[in-house]
Formats: sequence, structure tokens, C-alpha cells
Amino acid sequence: MSFSVFGDKFTRHTGIARLMEDMNQGLRTPGAVMLGGGNPAQIPAMNDYFDRLLGQMHRDGVLAEALSNYDGPQGKTTLRDALATMLREQFGWPLTAHNIALTNGSQSAFFYLFNLYAGRRADGSKKRVLFPLAPEYLGYADAGLDEDLFVSARPSIEMLPEGQFKYHVDFDNLHIGDDTGMICVSRPTNPTGNVITDEELLQLDALAQQHDVPLVIDNAYGVPFPGIIFSDARPLWNPNIILCMSLSKLGLPGSRCGIIIADEAVIAAIGNMNGIISLAPGSIGPAIAKEMIDRGDLLRLSDEVIRPFYQQRVQETIAIIRRYLPAERCLIHKPEGAIFLWLWFNDLQVTTEVLYQRLKQRGVLMVPGHFFFPGLPQEWPHTHQCMRMNYVPDARKIEQGVRILAEELALIEQQNREHQHVS
Ligand SMILES: Cc1ncc(COP(=O)(O)O)c(C=O)c1O
Repeated sequence: MSFSVFGDKFTRHTGIARLMEDMNQGLRTPGAVMLGGGNPAQIPAMNDYFDRLLGQMHRDGVLAEALSNYDGPQGKTTLRDALATMLREQFGWPLTAHNIALTNGSQSAFFYLFNLYAGRRADGSKKRVLFPLAPEYLGYADAGLDEDLFVSARPSIEMLPEGQFKYHVDFDNLHIGDDTGMICVSRPTNPTGNVITDEELLQLDALAQQHDVPLVIDNAYGVPFPGIIFSDARPLWNPNIILCMSLSKLGLPGSRCGIIIADEAVIAAIGNMNGIISLAPGSIGPAIAKEMIDRGDLLRLSDEVIRPFYQQRVQETIAIIRRYLPAERCLIHKPEGAIFLWLWFNDLQVTTEVLYQRLKQRGVLMVPGHFFFPGLPQEWPHTHQCMRMNYVPDARKIEQGVRILAEELALIEQQNREHQHVS
């Protein structure tokens, strides 16, 4: 079987494909401890809410209306209007529906945006997407039509009490050049749970404006919804910022609804791309979100149900980790948002890819760190010392996974000692 250049690139078995396969199997295999992919929690209060809402929408004919009609290529107009009004009132951003486009999940929004701004240009030049703070979301890594579309920068590391640390943008070594076509950062960050500070964000915004490139902020976990953020970070938007949001972490990943908030010209471009690629984005997620806004539930549930749920889970999970793994054996990135913990095994004698394989053999799924450094120009041992775990499952499952992790780490240490002794 032979494919085009596009086909060769997009049929590779990438990190994101492996992660989604693991997640599909892990979520449906009894006994597996699924700490791998980014499936959001099944929060009983949210599931009950969606059951009731969908029932009501069904009775009102809203579901049938959404299912039986195409929306426009920029997505459901009623939701775009309602979102613009909500964000205007909430943050004072000067938005109308013309600043908002919907996509089939925000994953496809990133594919659109990266390839709109980076890659080969008509004048023969080539632009890249800069991730100013690696580690960064692994779903970006293979979304370029051209090879080598991404370049990322190593962070500086601040050590914190209680075996925690925090990555910062290393502005002294951040290079923005003629080949930079876009700057992109997830905030809160997948995989680390980091939230880059307001000062860092403002500095990135200033640099982007100075170099006349857009700043993409991936707000899949942020405010005002789903609100999985535990620090006081201020949201930011201006016409040079492309803010991406999603309904997934609200508890609706199956609705595949992404939201792009940007300057009108960018939104018009996205609408045209939607038309070519999918005619129109799906209507069900947008219909649900519109009902939630009308009822005043979208922000209320994010604040009152979703954020407290995750905040409690992350604290429980850290307490469990510390029962099995002291700070000397496992550092934890300060959890400021998102649904993951980023663990750093400073003196691990194998790579976290090997650790991943060993854990998988024992039914525990996590994601090894090296996938999260798309476009890092130089080898960096740190990329093989870290592991991402989802803290969404219940405490019993988390404890089972962490116990097995601690056992494997102890076994690796023991095998290493034996090996040294023999040689
Ligand atoms: C940081 C980040 N951005 C984007 C996405 C894509 O989400 P979706 O396509 O479900 O909107 C994810 C999914 O986990 C994510 O973690």
C-alpha cells in the first residue's frame, strides 16, 4: 500500500494515537487502572444534570432540531451569540458572534490554526509554531502538514517545598525569529497542571504583538468554563490572541465541540476551512451549551461542581502518592489546574518509556514524558524522567495504581543494584 506524502505523514502511529488506543482499551477493560489519557471525570452531579437537560431538550424538540439540520460553517449561531454576550459581560471583551467559530473538538481547531500560520509560505519562506514552555500538550506534536513545524523551549525550574516544583518560561533564552509564525501555550497546561503566571502571559502577548504573530492560548481547562483551575490567573483576550476552548472537560468529550475566539478575519478563515473539511461542525454539543447558558448553568456548574470536584481529587491523590513515594523519590509539579499530575523521578535508572511498559504489563496506564516535548531542539534527559498521570479515577483505583508504581520503582532500583554488583 502506498500513500501520498500527506498520507505517509498522517498514517504514522503517533503518541496521540497510542494514547487514545490505551484510553479506549483502559476505559473498557475491567480491572485496568486508567491513569493515561485525558478523559474527564464522571461527576455524578454533572451526569444527572446532563440526563435531565437532554430529557428536557428532547421534550422541547430542541434535540431533534439540532440533529436534523446543518449549522453554518462557523457553527451554531445561537451559541456564538450567547457566548459572545456571556464573555462580554464576564470579562468586558469586545466580542460578537463574528469573533467566535466552532469546530469538531478543539483538537481539530489546533490542526487548522497551526497550518494556517505555519508551514511553507507563497514567498518560499517557512514558518514554525513556537511553544514557549515545554512540556506541552502531546496532541499538538503531529498536527503539522509540513515536517518540523514545531519548535519548543526548555523551561526554567523553580523548586518548591514539599517535593513540588514549577516550570516557568525562560524568557532569557526564548528565541522568536523570522521563522516564528505563531506562539502557542496551554493554560492550564496539559501535561503539568501548570498555569503560567499573568506576568508571563502578558510578556508573551507583548512579544507576539511586537513580532506580529498571533498568540494562541489553549484554554481547554480554564475559566470561565470548565473552570479546572486552582490559582488566581486572569484570562486574557485581545484581537491578537486566539483563545481556544472546549466542551470536553465540562464532561462532554463525546460532543466533540471546540470553540475559537479570535479576530473576525481569523474566524472567517476558520469558517471557510470548516466548510471544506466538514461542511459544518456538529450541532449537539453547541445546542447543549446554548441551553446551559440560557439557564445560567454553564458558569454556575463550573464554579460550584466541576472545580471543587477536581480540587478535592487532586489533594487526595497527592496524599496517596506521598504515602507511597516520598519527595526524594518523586517530585510533583505544583498542581494549579487541568486533570493531570506530572511526576518527576529525578534519578530513575531507566527511561519513563520503559517504566510505562512495565506498568502497562501490570494493568496501570500512564503516559511517559518524552511525548510532551514537541520540537525541542536538543536532547534533554529530563524528558525521560517524567510521567503524566490522570488523577480522575476514584481514590481506590488511584491507590492501586500508585502502589504498583512504587513497587515497580523499587524493583527497578533493586535490579540496578544487582546489576552493578555483578559487573
Ligand atoms: C490542552 C488540551 N488542548 C486540547 C485538547 C483537545 O480536546 P478536544 O478536542 O476534546 O476539545 C485537549 C484534550 O485533552 C487538551 O488537553
